[in-house]
Amino acid sequence: MTDRPAGFRPALAHHVLTPLYDRVVVLTTREQAFKPALVAQASIQHGHDVSDAGCGTGTLALLAATACPQARVTGVDADPAILSLARRKAASVAAPIRFDEGLSTDLPYGDGSFDRVVSSVFFRHLAHADKLKTARQMHRVLRVGVQLHFADRERSRRPISRTAFFAVQLLDGFETTRDAVAGHLPSVLAQAGFAQVAETRQFVAIFHILSLYSAIKVAP
Ligand SMILES: C[S@@+](CC[C@H](N)C(=O)[O-])C[C@H]1O[C@@H](n2cnc3c(N)ncnc32)[C@H](O)[C@@H]1O
Repeated sequence: MTDRPAGFRPALAHHVLTPLYDRVVVLTTREQAFKPALVAQASIQHGHDVSDAGCGTGTLALLAATACPQARVTGVDADPAILSLARRKAASVAAPIRFDEGLSTDLPYGDGSFDRVVSSVFFRHLAHADKLKTARQMHRVLRVGVQLHFADRERSRRPISRTAFFAVQLLDGFETTRDAVAGHLPSVLAQAGFAQVAETRQFVAIFHILSLYSAIKVAP
């Protein structure tokens, strides 16, 4: 039996686990290292419009808003329950972040609305066709000449981590993690129209490697 509504997969696969999400992430990933590194890489400037796609509980959006209080940060996620947690978390530190409900495959923003799209451990939630649709939407909502920065899990080349990644795949699904295992994420971004797609940094965690990527939207 699944408790997954059509269109998206909850952060920990089942809605009942969503309140535990932040604690699980702290314990199983190197969140406190890779998310600040991703925000630093994004080099968010005063006056930037920033979108955190698949924002979950809003940790990355909060880091972005803290790094540059003069930026306008918006989180978007398909799950209203996790957005409630995100809103509460941002309100508790008076961070002026807007959180919108929406599917990444049909982002609720006009063309060229953002100076940065950031995203973390989100692509692994999407089947291949939805990864491509999402990358195209990210490309559409970015202004020309600006950047996408995201982090996602990959399978480590070390045998012990490869075995451990199997546990991640059991939770996240084999279809959604296939592109990361095969190293296909950069080509998905290139297919969506992004240029200068690069893996910029890796963080080794227990179950996986966490890679940071950057890409740029260039004029057609
Ligand atoms: C693993 S969580 C990552 C949350 C957050 N980015 C982080 O770094 O902790 C993935 C999030 O993607 C959201 N999600 C899954 N599919 C989605 C879709 N198609 N559109 C928008 N959000 C989606 C889920 O609701 C969940 O909050």
